[in-house]
Amino acid sequence: MDILKIREDFKVLKENKIIYFDNAASSLKPKQVLEGISEYYLDFPVNIHRGIHKLSMRASIIYQETREKLAKFIGSKENEVVFTNNSTDAINLVMYSLYNSEYLKKDDEIILSILEHHANLVPWLFLSKKIGVKLKFVEIKDDFTLDMEDFKNKLSSKTKLVAITHISNTTGTIVPIKEIISLSKKYDCLTLIDASQSAPHFKINFKELDCDFLVFTAHKMLGPTGLGFLISKENNLEKFMPFKFGGDMIKNVSTTDFSTNSVPFKFEAGTPNISAVFGFSKAIDYLSDIGLENIEKQDKLLLEYGIEKLKAIKNLEFFNPLDKNLQSPIFLFRLKGIDCNDLSAILDDMSNIATRAGVHCAEPIVTRFDKNGLSRASLYFYNTFEEIDKFVESIKTVDGKING
Ligand SMILES: Cc1ncc(COP(=O)(O)O)c(C=O)c1O
Repeated sequence: MDILKIREDFKVLKENKIIYFDNAASSLKPKQVLEGISEYYLDFPVNIHRGIHKLSMRASIIYQETREKLAKFIGSKENEVVFTNNSTDAINLVMYSLYNSEYLKKDDEIILSILEHHANLVPWLFLSKKIGVKLKFVEIKDDFTLDMEDFKNKLSSKTKLVAITHISNTTGTIVPIKEIISLSKKYDCLTLIDASQSAPHFKINFKELDCDFLVFTAHKMLGPTGLGFLISKENNLEKFMPFKFGGDMIKNVSTTDFSTNSVPFKFEAGTPNISAVFGFSKAIDYLSDIGLENIEKQDKLLLEYGIEKLKAIKNLEFFNPLDKNLQSPIFLFRLKGIDCNDLSAILDDMSNIATRAGVHCAEPIVTRFDKNGLSRASLYFYNTFEEIDKFVESIKTVDGKING
């Protein structure tokens, strides 16, 4: 992988000399993705699925071809890909569809992990308040990996849904989802995997995974904001009621009734984010050209290097498994004697390093570690060892000033 050449595609890396370590929040976008977005606005700035004029037909074809491309990329059928606004929207789509279909009843149980991002927590909290389903949270062990014994103990005939993250956006923990899905099947419950942090880093195959729902979001994998995905088994899409109603999701409408469109269109009401789909098509090409296997290898090298360097700072405490096979390249940490927001601001001012501070949209787990929040540095394949060196040196400087 020619990292220096790759970095040329990212304007902010080239011009701002920024060290971008906030990739878990959103990745950078290469120029090819921006060209895809511009292509839509310059060449096909029209609506899709509506006009029979050439521009609309062409835009509709590119839109549909991107669905096909994504299906190949993620190992699903084309009809199993629903375009949403982001992961949050995709999870809400599943939650409301289950609610509208009366799939869940009072005292049914949903299993989540204690590591969930708010996107895969608050929708289920809402449902528990609304209809009285019970939420069970799988714990982590002292090494920040998921406690599979706890999962097995919580799984029962009352479980109707297991909704769990593939990779935590805080501890970086890789959750053994294959085992979770296969154990869940014994109880015939639905499974939802939040792949927001894994789809950018790993090759994922929906068919092989065999979960019911897989969600992820374009902006964390080089794509534009405002576009996400629900990959769902076709029979679930057939069976469940949509939750957004209006144009495009219908087959026929009268003043007294409507019938729904075929899947996946019945879940895509209204004009979608067409330009983002055009841009994302280029992001898939970009990721495929590099190869997810190569990205995973590079992640591991950066992660190992970063762990070794940061471990030398004795006033720095990690909240990660610290094993390249058990976590993604995310460092969640606390530097003794300084608030995480102050540290983030100093790193930005002093060394132009972008990190994140706070509870990272995962308040239950992060406040358990520290009620004031923690610092997070999250890497992607375009980061370099030299950037890690500068990051470590900057933290050492702050450490020296604060802790002597
Ligand atoms: C694990 C996880 N799930 C869900 C989300 C939500 O993604 P979006 O804001 O794009 O909906 C995020 C974003 O940080 C995440 O890290």
